[in-house]
Amino acid sequence: MNLEEIKKTAPIEIQNASGLNELENIRIKYLGRRGSLTEILKSLKNLALNQKKKIGPKANSLRESLEKLIQEKKQLLNQVNKFPPIDITAPGKKKEIGHLHPLTQLEEQIEDIFASLGFSIAEGPEIEDEFHNFDALNMPADHPARDMWDTLWLKPQTQNLKLKFQNLLLRTHTSPVQIRYMEKNQPPIRIIAPGRVFRYEASDASHEIEFHQLEGLMVDKNISFANFKSVVSSFLKRLFSKNVEVRFRLSYFPFVEPGVEVDVSCPACDKKGCSLCNQSGWLEIAGAGMVHPKVFEAVGYNPKDWQGFAFGFGIDRVAMIKYNIPDIRLFYSGDLRFIKQF
Ligand code: DAH
Repeated sequence: MNLEEIKKTAPIEIQNASGLNELENIRIKYLGRRGSLTEILKSLKNLALNQKKKIGPKANSLRESLEKLIQEKKQLLNQVNKFPPIDITAPGKKKEIGHLHPLTQLEEQIEDIFASLGFSIAEGPEIEDEFHNFDALNMPADHPARDMWDTLWLKPQTQNLKLKFQNLLLRTHTSPVQIRYMEKNQPPIRIIAPGRVFRYEASDASHEIEFHQLEGLMVDKNISFANFKSVVSSFLKRLFSKNVEVRFRLSYFPFVEPGVEVDVSCPACDKKGCSLCNQSGWLEIAGAGMVHPKVFEAVGYNPKDWQGFAFGFGIDRVAMIKYNIPDIRLFYSGDLRFIKQF
């Protein structure tokens, strides 16, 4: 290529370069060590003096102007890289919107069902004192039944006299909300109390250190076990949207007498036996019973005037049954692949 040709083509190529790489290749082509302009400059020394005088300045000024053009183009391309052109025809980016956690969704569903049965919602603290979590529920300090709840105790704060040296703990169940509610209200009572509870336990597929319960309490004159049976049956039928059967097994909880464990016929196999119900056809779903007279006494009610029933569900357990989830730890894993299925 001679000077004239370079002068014609190089600026156009530089002008048309669409990226930094292409621009660099153009630079090498003309101004690199073996570039065509470089070759011309190198060959100057072999020319006759008059030729040298004629071509030398032209070649040098062409080199300067090409270097300048390349520099300018480089700046331009860098600008474009920083602010890529906006493609107004491109589809918009979807905003990811979160949703309620499956346990919250289920809790709200359960609340709706109980609301339609005339129950309202009560709440209590997650940091509880020994009196509400145990004593008032008919479990004084030396009661062996306290061992049924592996408790996370808080370090005593002896400086804080307001606490009256009460031992504090993370509530092991939602039952203390019964006590707190009855302390402040008079019957008739129809409440549910959903909330987080804590146990000092090793976690596995069916145990977590933290999980959710839903407590229920109904107190009035002439309440019998038959009332409980009817409430819990209509609740479970609505919850599983099918005609599940309910059965009761005698059990022991210090705050009720008699105490029962509530089983529901397996909604997955209709009692035929499957992996969810361990081939038994039944699933244990709640603890319950008639409120113990000692509990009424602890809140200043006369047990001769009032009767009531109480129950406690594990919300996580209900969710595991309803959605066939094999491991409770999935609820707390923060794994979006799990959460997004709900
Ligand atoms: N609080 C019990 C637990 O955590 C569950 C329970 C059993 C609640 C019987 C009740 C009840 O209200 O009457 O295991």
